[in-house]
Amino acid sequence: MLTLQLNQFSLEDFLANYWQQKPVLIRQGFPGWQDLISPDELAGLACEPQIESRLICRKAGQWQAQNGPFEQYGHLGERDWTLVVQAVDHWSPEVAALVQAFMFIPQWRFDDVMISYAVPGGGVGPHIDLYDVFICQGSGRRRWRVGERGPHRQFVAHACLLHTDPFEPVIDAELTAGDILYIPPGFPHDGVTLEHSMSFSVGFRSQPARNMISGLADYLIDHELGTGLIHDPGRPRQRHPGQINASDFGLIRQQMQAVLSDAALMADFTGAMLSVTKCELDLQALEWPLNSAELLSRLQQAALVRTGGLRCLYLQENIAQGICYIDGEKYVFSAGCVPALINLCDQSWIDAAQLGEALQDMDFVEALLGWVNKGYWYFDE
Ligand code: SIN
Ligand code: CO
Repeated sequence: MLTLQLNQFSLEDFLANYWQQKPVLIRQGFPGWQDLISPDELAGLACEPQIESRLICRKAGQWQAQNGPFEQYGHLGERDWTLVVQAVDHWSPEVAALVQAFMFIPQWRFDDVMISYAVPGGGVGPHIDLYDVFICQGSGRRRWRVGERGPHRQFVAHACLLHTDPFEPVIDAELTAGDILYIPPGFPHDGVTLEHSMSFSVGFRSQPARNMISGLADYLIDHELGTGLIHDPGRPRQRHPGQINASDFGLIRQQMQAVLSDAALMADFTGAMLSVTKCELDLQALEWPLNSAELLSRLQQAALVRTGGLRCLYLQENIAQGICYIDGEKYVFSAGCVPALINLCDQSWIDAAQLGEALQDMDFVEALLGWVNKGYWYFDE
């Protein structure tokens, strides 16, 4: 596993003074860095229709962008273009392993690993992201400039490129393999490649309230919850039929607040919503499904690795009840399984010892069998 070296500060310093607050360059955060995927493999992924990719180039000062999948790259030339592929952690176990180095931020905040390959002069242009990103420089040199947060004008430079005006840099540095640039949301940045180079962007996000509320509405409908109507016996006579009076407005808000105040409902909704994968998983369902005896015996020889991009979460609120959420589904097991569930959600690699007592619980073994046969976890062999 790659281990992040913060060198000039501790993780605690980073979290207290930089995370979400200010950009910082971490020189040699990954000493001895080797690219986790080759440019050819990246270009191959961008030919797949289920994988989100973009080609961005500049011709005679004009920005152009095109969404994948792509069939060929031969026409692109030697300068001023970059290929960007999203969620590569879903398709490459080596890239998925990079995420583990950043798990001092919880999994629910993680978005994806976006990888770019660029030729000299290439980049996506000056822009502002809504997300926190750790840009890990791979092979090749790239110059990054980062400006201050502020009221920067944004404009559409091309149909799928939102750019920002030129900015005064507070960081202006050349990155080489193993360097990491952390940029919080809202800081304009621009990376221009000096040589053929690879960048690995580990992104973190949260959801805007409107997405959470719309997700909650879907959850209530799917689970036939939140169906209660307003109860208003003893209503005083209304003199203004067109008015929603203050006390009625209070009842309407209370009706909605009752849903938000239902801790069990909100825990289930939150776990389910936040464990839904960002995009398709590379599930390798077993051609010859195992039975539970075979699963238990294989587990004595090999550990299980979680498929890249699969989200497994538990809430402090209800883990003691044996509840966890995997890929949008709620699972409930006996209290004896709690340590196993915690390990399963906290770690991307898990062996029989870490599953412990849960391997004696037939409900848990059945569920694990279903996950392994489906390809959520695979044996590390
Ligand atoms: C890139 O790798 O080209 C873009 C990364 C970013 O700006 O977030
Ligand atoms: Co960016």
